Amino acid sequence: MSVLNKHAILERSPTLLFTFSLLVVTIGGIVEIAPLFYLENTIEEVDGMRPYSPLELAGRDIYVREGCYVCHSQMIRPMRDEVERYGHYSLAAESMYDHPFQWGSKRTGPDLARVGGRYSDAWHVDHFTNPQSVVPESVMPKYAFLADTKLDGKYIGDLMETHRMVGVPYTDEMITEARMDFRAQADPDSDWDGLVERYPGAVVSNFDGQPELTEMDAIIAYMQMLGTLVDFSTFTADASR
Ligand code: HEC
Repeated sequence: MSVLNKHAILERSPTLLFTFSLLVVTIGGIVEIAPLFYLENTIEEVDGMRPYSPLELAGRDIYVREGCYVCHSQMIRPMRDEVERYGHYSLAAESMYDHPFQWGSKRTGPDLARVGGRYSDAWHVDHFTNPQSVVPESVMPKYAFLADTKLDGKYIGDLMETHRMVGVPYTDEMITEARMDFRAQADPDSDWDGLVERYPGAVVSNFDGQPELTEMDAIIAYMQMLGTLVDFSTFTADASR
């Protein structure tokens, strides 16, 4: 009982109780905050990672706006059932240009971290227009209206500058060419050499099949690049860093 008795000393003196509470909270705070200063070291650099192209970035904004993260995760955990179903587990580096990240916490639908290239553009158009037309038992809502909302990319350069402020390494060239690249990615007949040079691996396609550039183009451009940047046939995890 002697230890508990000593505690009574603390409880009877407000000053002592306050001082010791502060001490405990400080230690707890340091334990939680200090690791954040070393966060940089925990993200290994991985070949192939690049910032989102303008059209992909616009698609990502639509993904956030529509709350797709409420039903879909983008985070494959290193467990056998997940790796067999979705592919290589997600790397921290794969989210390094995401502000905010889209890991999600609920899977009403499947994980989307590696959905890029899994389906054709036409499949995505059908699926977004009416999910039940391709997966009859689907509970996913229809997003047909995305094909009716035209995009002109007026603010895409501003959006990229905002991302640059929070650390995405967009170059001045990427920002001046933003609107050109924005359109070029959805128009295979355009001159898209510069786009692919700036954003290696960017898929150029008339994603929604319509002549106009729409939100449907942007969301599909985003879907088709998810999880495709890192080449896992050559990637080896370097735990020694
Ligand atoms: C109410 C929950 C819900 C919402 C919201 C939702 N989805 Fe889904 N999604 C599902 C379900 C369930 C499936 C699986 C059945 C199917 O393919 O339709 C699915 C499937 C998918 C697939 C196919 C994945 C695969 O590997 O087969 C894609 C791509 C997708 N959703 C994208 C989106 C996007 C983008 C949004 C936001 C615009 C969105 N979903 C919003 C529930 C949802």
